[in-house]
Amino acid sequence: MNPRIVIMGPQGAGKGTQSERLAEAYDVEHVTTGGILRANKDLETEHGTPGEYMDRGELVPDEVMAAIVEEALGSRDGYVLDGYPRNRAQAEYLDEIADPHLVLLIEVSEEVSIERLSGRRECRDCGATYHVDFDPPAESGVCDVCGGELFRREDDEPEAIRRRLEIYYDETEPVVAHYREETDIPVKSVDGEQPPDDVFDDIESMVESTVPQPSASED
Ligand code: AP5
Repeated sequence: MNPRIVIMGPQGAGKGTQSERLAEAYDVEHVTTGGILRANKDLETEHGTPGEYMDRGELVPDEVMAAIVEEALGSRDGYVLDGYPRNRAQAEYLDEIADPHLVLLIEVSEEVSIERLSGRRECRDCGATYHVDFDPPAESGVCDVCGGELFRREDDEPEAIRRRLEIYYDETEPVVAHYREETDIPVKSVDGEQPPDDVFDDIESMVESTVPQPSASED
């Protein structure tokens, strides 16, 4: 069975990094709301453009997000959903339209979030992510994968990082309690302060022990 996973955690926990790996390992779609929004930053909606909210570190309005996530999940039978839900209204909407097997929570301290976001660099052409100290490219400022230019995201500036973390602790962390206390969906926590390979090993064991495996007749 293709896993349906919601991945959560504070900014810089490694959600994007681990979601990429998971999606590849299980051959399912990595649905990243941040990625979809970055590709549509200048799209005019009745609430303004997504970019206006993102660059300040604010959440894009729930109505815009609902349409995006419904279309992105469609009728997929497997996915890694990264970046949604981020508040109670979004969690309740997701409860209506999707049925995840598992919520994975990557835990890191606030200090680690700030350290990772401050050093993150992204490729302008292919979106690959690096860190100036923890995962540097071979040549400074140049993407190893495609040779594109690396840049610092607008919302990785100090003021926007502070605002994003504030929103995480106020609005997104309570969503974890919603899953734990008000649904039957298992929530598994992983220590995100380990090296990326170790984080992935832990995540893989959690998926294997939680998501129903295909029976012999389905092989
Ligand atoms: P989004 O793109 O989802 O950003 P985020 O949630 O703020 O998460 P990040 O991408 O910052 O962190 P990450 O956990 O993915 O870390 P990463 O793997 O890159 O959202 C951006 C914006 O879009 C939001 O602020 C909002 O405006 C809007 N938005 C999105 N979804 C929305 C929604 N549902 N509702 C409303 N608005 C929404 O890793 C970070 C760095 O650490 C990298 O440099 C990486 O190389 C490094 N790293 C990763 N793992 C490790 C490790 N184990 N050890 C050392 N370094 C590591």
